[in-house]
Amino acid sequence: MEKGDMALETPLTKALDLRVPVLAAPIGRGSNAEFLGAMTHSGGFGFTALMHMPEETVSDELAQRRRATNGRFGANLSLIVDQRKRLATALDAGVRVFSLWHGDIEPYVRIIKDAGGLVFWTLGTPDEAARAKDLGVDFIVSQGREAGGHLVARAPTMTLLPSIVDAAKGVPVVAAGGIADGRGLVAAMALGACGVWMGTRFVASRESANHRGYKERVVAARATDLVETELFNVGWQACPHRVIRNSTYSRWEDAGRPATGHRPGESDQISRFPDGRPLYRYDVAAAWDAMEGDWEASPLYAGTTIGLIHDVKSVADIVGDIETTAQAVLDRIAAMRTVG
Ligand SMILES: Cc1cc2nc3c(=O)[nH]c(=O)nc-3n(C[C@H](O)[C@H](O)[C@H](O)COP(=O)(O)O)c2cc1C
Repeated sequence: MEKGDMALETPLTKALDLRVPVLAAPIGRGSNAEFLGAMTHSGGFGFTALMHMPEETVSDELAQRRRATNGRFGANLSLIVDQRKRLATALDAGVRVFSLWHGDIEPYVRIIKDAGGLVFWTLGTPDEAARAKDLGVDFIVSQGREAGGHLVARAPTMTLLPSIVDAAKGVPVVAAGGIADGRGLVAAMALGACGVWMGTRFVASRESANHRGYKERVVAARATDLVETELFNVGWQACPHRVIRNSTYSRWEDAGRPATGHRPGESDQISRFPDGRPLYRYDVAAAWDAMEGDWEASPLYAGTTIGLIHDVKSVADIVGDIETTAQAVLDRIAAMRTVG
């Protein structure tokens, strides 16, 4: 792999041997082997969530991803449930890069560090950032409120990120939330980040295994179509998330926003999971490519970057464009400094 421009060389590119400091966030079932392989080949690096994988399939799923990426991908654990078994399976499968969020990360960090792994911690406050070094975290992921999916912070990236950098005691910080292109990468670096972590932009990539209709919605949606809600809470309760307004949301709103237990269509089965289990309305699962039934009724996670996403592009084009644009922005800034 050819190394990128020195200006884009950071502690992140060094630690993961990347050409560009661009990470793909886990995007539900969208982060399959083909998607992660495309990320690796683009010079970036992708993460896959283990949350939605039944424990008995984790090993096989990770083996496919290892083959596609030559072992160069990370696994994400949402610590809202006990994930020690999935972590052990992932370590057995050779995974050494992990991302953690929500819940008590301490015991997980210890196990990962003992196995020689790298830990990314997604957080949303300077107080958490101040604890990262002592916990043994290698990289902080600062998730601004603009993000798509589940949210951890109150503040947006523009103010959150520098405050996290200030509090991090030297632990390198990756910026998440509201970043979709090379301008965002340079801006994040100006605020102290060593790279970016992007979700929504990669949902609308050709290789992601998110549902085609969901990708089209990400491209078509406007800022006014986004809502922050706790509505899709089957499988993950009381956590705000950002989605594109869909039929489930509108029906609930029209019904006067009733509480859980009284919402319209709570017993509707809108689809089936790949393993055959019924998938009910209000489930946390995002629509995946082969999903049958009413995919549009499921949560269409997306962040404010939808205003910057105008087409479904290949991962290589997304990452390549980020690299080219970032370089052009840096050149433009340098040129401005020499004028007059
Ligand atoms: C479809 C989708 C699924 C996500 N699932 C996870 C997840 O399982 N674990 C996680 O740490 N973050 C998850 N995220 C959040 C991302 O990690 C990231 O913080 C966010 O997408 C960044 O903001 P952006 O969407 O503006 O790029 C998800 C995001 C999306 C869009």
